[in-house]
Amino acid sequence: MTSPHDVLLRLLSPEGRTAPYRHYRELVEHWPVLPITPQRLLVTGYRECADVLVNPKLFPVPDRHYADRLWPTWYTVPSTDLLYRSLLFRNAPDNQPARRLIARFFAPDQVERMRPMITRHAGAGTAPFGEGDGLVDAARSFTTIPDSVMGELLGLPRHDGERVAGWLDRFLERNEMHPPDKALAAAEEASSHLVDHITNTVLAKRGSEAPLVRSLREHSQIDERDLVSNLVFLLGAGTATTASLLGSGLRQLAAHNDLLPGLRDDDALLRSFVLEALRYDPPVQYGVRVAAQDTELAGVPVARDSVVLVCFGALGRDPGRFGDPDSFVADRFLTPDTGPRDVLSFGLGAHRCAGAELGLVTAEVAFRQLALRVDAIREAEQPQRQARAVVRRHTRLVVDVTRR
Ligand code: HEM
Repeated sequence: MTSPHDVLLRLLSPEGRTAPYRHYRELVEHWPVLPITPQRLLVTGYRECADVLVNPKLFPVPDRHYADRLWPTWYTVPSTDLLYRSLLFRNAPDNQPARRLIARFFAPDQVERMRPMITRHAGAGTAPFGEGDGLVDAARSFTTIPDSVMGELLGLPRHDGERVAGWLDRFLERNEMHPPDKALAAAEEASSHLVDHITNTVLAKRGSEAPLVRSLREHSQIDERDLVSNLVFLLGAGTATTASLLGSGLRQLAAHNDLLPGLRDDDALLRSFVLEALRYDPPVQYGVRVAAQDTELAGVPVARDSVVLVCFGALGRDPGRFGDPDSFVADRFLTPDTGPRDVLSFGLGAHRCAGAELGLVTAEVAFRQLALRVDAIREAEQPQRQARAVVRRHTRLVVDVTRR
């Protein structure tokens, strides 16, 4: 049998980042909790990941207090400062007012009210599929639908969309595992552009801000710098993730054209298809926690301050939780023994995605519109995707379509 070390090396290679699932499966089956170094563990088993996520007292997120002890100069790095001010890197009770507001803003009934706006942007993003038979680069239209949705929700000027998407993309390198120095330098530059841009556009409209921005400004008890960080974070969290979901769902659809008729009129199948795309290829592959004290996880000792990597990408392939986990089964979530709650691709517990419903509904609306426009769709060339470990967006996704 190969050693866990070999599997890790393969997983972190450029090939492994692009196609990690074979390696995850090996880890899930043999080493669901794997010490990588004395202070770092990789958790891939479904139950073991859930145990970490539902216990935020024992396994909090690394916040600025943690960073103060282990990396006291963190705040001199602007992009890190930006990240540590956001919701994802704050523990209760520090994160509560802002988290509650954001979660309320994206609650299911609120997202339902956004449906006409989402439909408008999905209509524009799917328009190239209805313009005639032939090739369409979905990475240029379809997967950028969330950029317009989030841009409108935050009140970003429309013409700046592409520039902002580029900055966000470079900024997200800061959240990657072992990014090269060049990428870190680009993340620094991008973070300062983002801060300036949000300050000079979104926040400059004092009195006529977008409702979410005003509500955060007036009621979240956070200062202006924290507000900017949370807005940058929301933009990143809401766009790259949903775009990744649209890309991987589209690829499944291209491989299973028989699903098209069902996606046009069967709401339950549509939701199951989207949930399965989330399980099969989660847009966020890893979450980070730290150990608040010496403890153990599934019998493996965990030293205080260890970094615990929760692998969302792997847990969905755990055969102990999902039958035939390496197959894409569009109606998996219509069966009685598997429900939406089993999908952990939005996280679980104290930090579960605050925008999950928006991500789901955006994907549903986009796939329905696509299915209504095309009769057949197939990949025309090998898709290109960022060789990243945490959030991997498609950069080129050319499909050959036959219009309806
Ligand atoms: C398919 C789309 C999406 C996926 C797969 C996704 C996934 C995730 C995951 C896995 C987490 C938790 C990370 C952890 O526990 O370490 C998270 C957190 C978060 N997401 Fe999403 N997300 C999506 C869309 C969105 C959207 C559209 C928004 C905003 C409108 C959003 C806002 C957030 C926020 C604010 C958090 C932080 C919550 C907290 O720490 O309290 N996400 N997301």
